[in-house]
Amino acid sequence: MKQKIVIAGGNGFIGKNLVAYFYQKNYEVIVLTRKPVKSTREAKQVFWDGKHSGDWTEELEGAKAIINLSGKSVNCRYHRKNKKVILNSRIDSTNAIGQAITQCLHPPKSWINASSATIYKHTTDEPANDEEIGKLGAGFSVGVVKAWEDVFFNSNTPKTRKIALRTAITLGKNGGALTPMWWLTRLALGGRQGDGNQFISWIHIHDLERICEWCINNEEAEGVFNCAAPYPVPNSTFMKTLRKATGHVIGIPAPAWVLDVGAFFIRTETELLLKSRKVVSKRLPEMGFDFKFPTLERTLLDLTRGWS
Ligand SMILES: NC(=O)c1ccc[n+]([C@@H]2O[C@H](COP(=O)([O-])OP(=O)(O)OC[C@H]3O[C@@H](n4cnc5c(N)ncnc54)[C@H](OP(=O)(O)O)[C@@H]3O)[C@@H](O)[C@H]2O)c1
Repeated sequence: MKQKIVIAGGNGFIGKNLVAYFYQKNYEVIVLTRKPVKSTREAKQVFWDGKHSGDWTEELEGAKAIINLSGKSVNCRYHRKNKKVILNSRIDSTNAIGQAITQCLHPPKSWINASSATIYKHTTDEPANDEEIGKLGAGFSVGVVKAWEDVFFNSNTPKTRKIALRTAITLGKNGGALTPMWWLTRLALGGRQGDGNQFISWIHIHDLERICEWCINNEEAEGVFNCAAPYPVPNSTFMKTLRKATGHVIGIPAPAWVLDVGAFFIRTETELLLKSRKVVSKRLPEMGFDFKFPTLERTLLDLTRGWS
């Protein structure tokens, strides 16, 4: 019999990739979504509202794992209403899953909850933040991630192993941060952003898929893991590597004030580009996880093949 993996928020960027990955690995995949589309061979679509118990809770019975990716995108203006939804969508969905697990006769063996590498402080010259020495930051985004993890780790699910993945910027082909960055590069705007010294921690989507599978199958995996490749780079290096991978010579820099204006018009926040996220994992390599895409060059060459 196939083993079952339930993915809440499984129709988003990371979710779609995980669905395809676990389907190929012969798992039965269930997606919990507020807007079910037609079920496919890859995954059954099940309605939930991301807040309350409902028929969906039955799907957790006997599951190998539940992976929760739900949360309003942070790619928006941080005004009061958006801030509330960014926070509540993460807390409510995590709470709902915690309660559903307590009602299961055969609870899922493991529960992976999304978290974010943005929980660490803005770091440039100091060593990268790992799970052991990493220093947490302050401010709205950090507060959201702290609250999200608090709800997750405080939920009482003694028979279910819990893993929070503090994920860095995830690079993949069909969505996420890479496509808009590539478009800037095509328009000759792929120069450094701000002063270019802020670090970018990143992970290839395939390594993130592999980390999820590794956590599910590794009984020792529990607690917090940073999901970031081992070599974070300054923004200027990131953009230069992207230009090289896609064959673009000119990359006009975007100073912070230009980003401020641009962000206002496209309804996003410059924090997403200007915060220095220097994050690595100590635990993953120590526990035997091997990155397939440890370097940015290899990652971008793989993901942008055929892009120009
Ligand atoms: N992508 C990255 O680089 C990255 C980095 C670090 C952390 N993360 C975290 O990883 C998770 C998945 O990321 P992603 O890039 O796949 O995000 P995404 O594409 O925006 O997908 C998130 C999913 O959350 C659900 N959702 C949205 N608003 C919601 C709300 N108000 N209430 C309940 N559910 C809601 C949506 O599912 P339905 O509409 O189908 O219900 C959506 O498909 C997110 O929590 C994100 O913060 C992502």
